[in-house]
Amino acid sequence: MTFEGRGHALYLSKLFLMTEKDFVPDPYKVFPNEGKVIWKAPSNIALVKYWGKKPHQIPANPSISFTLDTSATTTSLTYKRKKESNGSISFDLLFEGKAKESFKPKIQTFLERIETYLPFLKDYHFVIETSNSFPHSSGIASSASGMAALALGLLSLEKNMVAEMEESHFNKKASFLARLGSGSACRSIEGKLIEWGSHNSIPGSSDLFGTRYPFHVNSVFQDYQDTILLVHKGQKQVSSTVGHNLMHNHPFAERRFEQAHENLDKLQPILAQGDLEGFIEIVESEALTLHAMMMTSRPYFILMKPDTLEIINKIWQFRQETGLPICFTLDAGANVHMLYPKSIADKALQFIKDELVAHCENGQYICDQIGTGAKRINEEV
Ligand code: PMV
Repeated sequence: MTFEGRGHALYLSKLFLMTEKDFVPDPYKVFPNEGKVIWKAPSNIALVKYWGKKPHQIPANPSISFTLDTSATTTSLTYKRKKESNGSISFDLLFEGKAKESFKPKIQTFLERIETYLPFLKDYHFVIETSNSFPHSSGIASSASGMAALALGLLSLEKNMVAEMEESHFNKKASFLARLGSGSACRSIEGKLIEWGSHNSIPGSSDLFGTRYPFHVNSVFQDYQDTILLVHKGQKQVSSTVGHNLMHNHPFAERRFEQAHENLDKLQPILAQGDLEGFIEIVESEALTLHAMMMTSRPYFILMKPDTLEIINKIWQFRQETGLPICFTLDAGANVHMLYPKSIADKALQFIKDELVAHCENGQYICDQIGTGAKRINEEV
C-alpha cells in the first residue's frame, strides 16, 4: 500500500470503528429445532505479547500472533430447542468423551457473558463435546483454541437464524465472542498472522476482535515452523487471569504497553522483507519481557523452569555456532516454542533430538507450524 493509500485506509477504519453494539443481532427470522455443528480451532502463539487488560477483556496493548496448525481443539455442539425457555442457560459438557464438571463454571461464565450478543442461548439445551489434539495436561493452554471452537459453533447456529451473515462479519463476531471467553482466543479464528488491539498504524485494528495482519508478509514467514518443547506439563502456579491483573499498578506497565506498540511498528518492515535477524530480536525480547513483567509484579512469580533456561541458552549457542535463524518464544508457562523457517527444518529437528529432548518432560515435543485458521468439520444435519 502507498503512504497515501495507507493514510486513507486508516482514516476510513477510524470512521467506521465498530462497537459492541454492532454484534447485537437483529431479531431472528427462524429458530431451528435441533442440529449439530463441529468446528476445529487452532491454538496461536504471540510474537508481540498481550499481558495486561482493562475491564471487559479489552487488551492493555496490541498483540500479534502466528495461528498454529496441528495444536487444536475440536468441539461438537449439539443443540435442541427447549419446549419452553426456562430463562436459564443449560448445557452438558464432555471433555475427551467424559463428563467434565470442573470445566463447567468457566463455560457457564462465558455463555452468560455473550448472551447479549447471542440472545437465543436460553432457548436451547446444548451438549458440548470437546477434545484437544495435543496430549492431555501437556501444559499447553487450550483456552484459546477451546473458546474459539465453541464461539464458532454457537455463531454457526445463529447464522441459520438470521437472513444473512457475510463471512467477514462472521469472522469478526466469532473473534469478538471468543475474546470474551479468553482474550488470546480472538486470535484463533483466522490465519496466518493475526493482530488484536487498536494500533494507530494498523488499519482495521480493534480492541474488540482480531484481524488478519493487513501488510505484506514475506514468503519465509508463510510456512514458519513452531516446535513446542514440553518442559513442564503440570498446572501453572499462577493463572493468566491473575497475571494480567498484576499489571495494574505495575511499576513498568505504561512503558511496556508503549513498547508493544513500538515493536508492532518495528515488525512491519521485518515481516515484509523477511528480515530474520530483526524478527529474532523482537520475538525473543518480547518473550523475555513478558516473563520480566511477571518477575517484577507484586506479588512476583517465575513460570520458567531450569530446563526452560537450559533450552534458551542452547538455542543461543547453536545459533551462534551455526548461524541458523532458530529462535524461541514463551507463553505464560515453562514450555518453549522454537521458531524457525521451514527450509532448515531438518537441521532444527536434529538439533532438538541431539540437545533439547533431554530437557523436555518425558522427552515430549510437538511439531507445529503456522496455520490458516479454524475449520468447520461437518455440514448441518
Ligand atoms: O488469553 P489469556 O488471558 O490466557 O492470555 C494469554 C497471554 C499470553 O499467552 C501470555 C500472551 C498472548 O498474547 O497470547
